Amino acid sequence: MGTKVESAFPDRPQFQGFMKPCRLEGEIQALEVRGSIPEEIDGTFYRVMPDPQLPPFVENDPWFNGDGNIAAFTIKDGSVSFRQRYVRTEKFTREREAKRALLGKYRNKFTDAVEFKVRSTANTNVVYFNGQLLALKEDAPPYALDPATLETKGLYDFEGQLPSLTFTAHPKFDPKTGEMICFGYEAKGDGTPDVCYYNVSPDGKFTEVVWLVAPVAAMIHDFAVTENWVLFPVIPQVCDIERMKQGGEHWQWSSETPFYLGVLPRRGAKPTDVKWFEYKNSFPGHTANAYEDENGNITMDLGLSEKNVFFWWPDAQGNAPEPSSILSQLVQFNFNPRSEDLNLPSPKILQQHNTEFYRIDDRFATQPYKHCFMDLMDPTLGTDFPTIGPKLGGGYPLYNSLGHFDVSTGKTEIYFPGRTHMVQEPVFIPRSGSTVEGDGYLLALINNYDSMSSELHLLDTRDFTKAKAIILLPIRLRQGLHGNWVDAADLKTSA
Ligand SMILES: [Fe+2]
Repeated sequence: MGTKVESAFPDRPQFQGFMKPCRLEGEIQALEVRGSIPEEIDGTFYRVMPDPQLPPFVENDPWFNGDGNIAAFTIKDGSVSFRQRYVRTEKFTREREAKRALLGKYRNKFTDAVEFKVRSTANTNVVYFNGQLLALKEDAPPYALDPATLETKGLYDFEGQLPSLTFTAHPKFDPKTGEMICFGYEAKGDGTPDVCYYNVSPDGKFTEVVWLVAPVAAMIHDFAVTENWVLFPVIPQVCDIERMKQGGEHWQWSSETPFYLGVLPRRGAKPTDVKWFEYKNSFPGHTANAYEDENGNITMDLGLSEKNVFFWWPDAQGNAPEPSSILSQLVQFNFNPRSEDLNLPSPKILQQHNTEFYRIDDRFATQPYKHCFMDLMDPTLGTDFPTIGPKLGGGYPLYNSLGHFDVSTGKTEIYFPGRTHMVQEPVFIPRSGSTVEGDGYLLALINNYDSMSSELHLLDTRDFTKAKAIILLPIRLRQGLHGNWVDAADLKTSA
């Protein structure tokens, strides 16, 4: 590494074109709006992007190892304001002071330039619960932020109740009970197979804590919850602490490892109650929803790929799929959680397209549902790949449209934002006063490679295939990960 401080980002696709780090903090009032935003929409869309404030000293650092930069788009009276601020993690604060990167490889503390207490980049999701806006990364506890100013309040351990070293980036919310359901994996530290499940009451009390041991120390990125069960899909990316000590990667694809699904009763469970179901080696992606039928059987809808989606972490022999050959589809598993046979029946492919980042009307989480929204790639829609190719940058999945899938009929409506555009994860906004599932708006950040700036596209789900409003930003926001919509009324009642 030497003493020379790098001031330029590496000459790699993940730092070029649209992926050039944004590194901006600030606010813009009254963004330009084309079309009109319904007056009834009143709330904030929070989203986070990994956005390195300083060049990494790791040459081929993946794009999602950047510092969490949180954006808040507040919509009121048909107008949109934008605010963006970095989470003041220990990493961010110490690197800013040192004016250079100190954190080494993705989730490998043995490669750091200094010793950190917490290595979180807080860059994966931002959720609002019980008056706290929480920036999440699955290798650490949350950071709490002020929902209005985005100022960092500090690490958040739920007033000392957090039992594990880690906290998922994908907590679930039970719309009937108001509970937050969460877990941590590698919950006793790097390379440990321990998983800690916890259930949090609407007023922030931990009501269930169950420690589990998974069959492998592997990645559990997203999970699913029904009324009575918690489901942990284990990605066959496995950790080996000795490899890490030698400066290797945290994760390695294991083609011998099945896709394990941990199934645990949601209430009153003992550690021994968990069952690890198995399906053939494959890559479980984000979940859409899960629920039980009248016989107590579980339906779980999620993205699934037969190949290693995280191709940048190959297997022990260095094998990885060619990125364009990876197909992720929305599939449905149906199984009896009480079965003695731990082999999962083959899933049904719900939709043929290459999709990910599934979102639903969250009022129907844990329940049977009909509407599923998603990022979708369909090369036949007319995307001008030759024009945008040189500007894309790299390292992130490309989706050129938003899908609205009807789970009951199998039909998909597609919104195509334009020939020089790619989409990021959408959020669903219920129509004010309507309790009908899926009746409302879809809002998503869109990358425009012609203007090299970002846009928000707002769709009415009653007329999905064209935008109701396009909100223009005078800046470019790099590819992000996850975000959530928070209604102004919900912020006021619980803040
Ligand atoms: Fe995720």
